[in-house]
Amino acid sequence: MPSIAIFGDSGMGKTMIMQRFCAENSHGFDPNTGRERTPVLSLQMSGHPTERRLYALILAALGAPQGPRADITRLEQSAVSLLKTIGTQVLVIDEVHNILAGSHREQRIVLNALRFLSNELRMSLVCFGVTDAREAISGDVQLARRFDELTLPRWLATAQYEALIISILRNMPLREPSILTAKSLRRILQVTEGLTALIFRMLNELAIAAAKTGVERITDEAVESWKPNVQTEAAFS
Ligand SMILES: Nc1ncnc2c1ncn2[C@@H]1O[C@H](COP(=O)(O)OP(=O)(O)OP(=O)(O)O)[C@@H](O)[C@H]1O
Ligand SMILES: [Mg+2]
Repeated sequence: MPSIAIFGDSGMGKTMIMQRFCAENSHGFDPNTGRERTPVLSLQMSGHPTERRLYALILAALGAPQGPRADITRLEQSAVSLLKTIGTQVLVIDEVHNILAGSHREQRIVLNALRFLSNELRMSLVCFGVTDAREAISGDVQLARRFDELTLPRWLATAQYEALIISILRNMPLREPSILTAKSLRRILQVTEGLTALIFRMLNELAIAAAKTGVERITDEAVESWKPNVQTEAAFS
């Protein structure tokens, strides 16, 4: 089945894209069987993924957690049969680079399990991760071959970036419209280094300041003199 891997730096918005996709597709109703379907299931490869943990995560996401002593064959069988029953067609996995935390052998086993699930259930995989995730997936040549790759690059001074800023400004609950010069747009790119998370944070902070001071719009002067709040910077890093 065709699969896709999406790479991007931390804070580019991978998890948000994944959540949006899942929210829009996670439930369905099969009129043929009268059953509720879960066409898209999502997991986060946190910590140190092993084959056992992968199946445990799938079962937990399906609302069927297993006891810690269940053997791996049983976990695998339960996961496969439940996924079949609820008609999952897409397995979305966030933080795929964490696969690299395992030993070489563990990595191969986890990738092999993913390939098995994709084959057995004719299921597409959608993997998100930082650039290292590419290396994680390439540990299994057969699996890697079926992945299309997409990179979420940092924002550059393009029409798309301009459209992003305009749409953020337009959606701010301020009383006056904010119109920024090209110089301010460049300044935002420069201080945020093109990271989605920081662009949103900067504009949010500017909007809060505009509301508090009663200016009610984001001005070029405010953009120019904006300094990241030290506390929020520390919380992000
Ligand atoms: N489309 C968006 N709309 C609004 N805010 C966004 C959007 N994308 C990202 N953000 C902001 O950026 C923050 C980081 O985004 P997200 O957690 O999706 O990044 P990530 O790529 O998954 O990072 P990491 O690799 O660290 O997990 C979000 O908490 C949110 O504040
Ligand atoms: Mg994330």
